[in-house]
Amino acid sequence: VPPRNGIELRINGESYLHTGDPSMPLLWYLRDVLQLTGTKYGCDSTVCGACTVLIDGKRALACARSMDTLAGSEVTTVEGLAGPDGSLHALQQAWIDEDAILCGYCQPGWLMAAADLLRRKPAPSDADIDALPNLCRCGSQPRIRRAIHRAAAQLQAAKG
Ligand code: FES
Repeated sequence: VPPRNGIELRINGESYLHTGDPSMPLLWYLRDVLQLTGTKYGCDSTVCGACTVLIDGKRALACARSMDTLAGSEVTTVEGLAGPDGSLHALQQAWIDEDAILCGYCQPGWLMAAADLLRRKPAPSDADIDALPNLCRCGSQPRIRRAIHRAAAQLQAAKG
């Protein structure tokens, strides 16, 4: 089989072949090509965290990763956080329960950064949460902090 001309990657469990500009940022590919607009365009300069996704399970900024660095990668966006049956991730449920959202623009980035934090630290401290490199200009950090603690407790309890 001849090699296909383009960059193959997986996004939220689906396979994609990018045949356009290899230097295109992942953020543009997600939003403009795939219409996966949950990942937000904030600063476009690695400062705000609004574009946070998971690449091979780890936190990454979609504005700072070009498509040519992603061959064979598995990308997860906020659209892929819920289970295949549509059941909400513990973080999404906790966000609702704690009413964590104000304007909402930064929240997909926070959710993905929190998912990465709970993978690394299943019982994070306030300081761990405050160290996440995400900005919220509405001031909902206290509620976000509570939501992450709530999700952490729920995931720990579910593990038994
Ligand atoms: Fe990527 Fe702000 S848009 S960090």
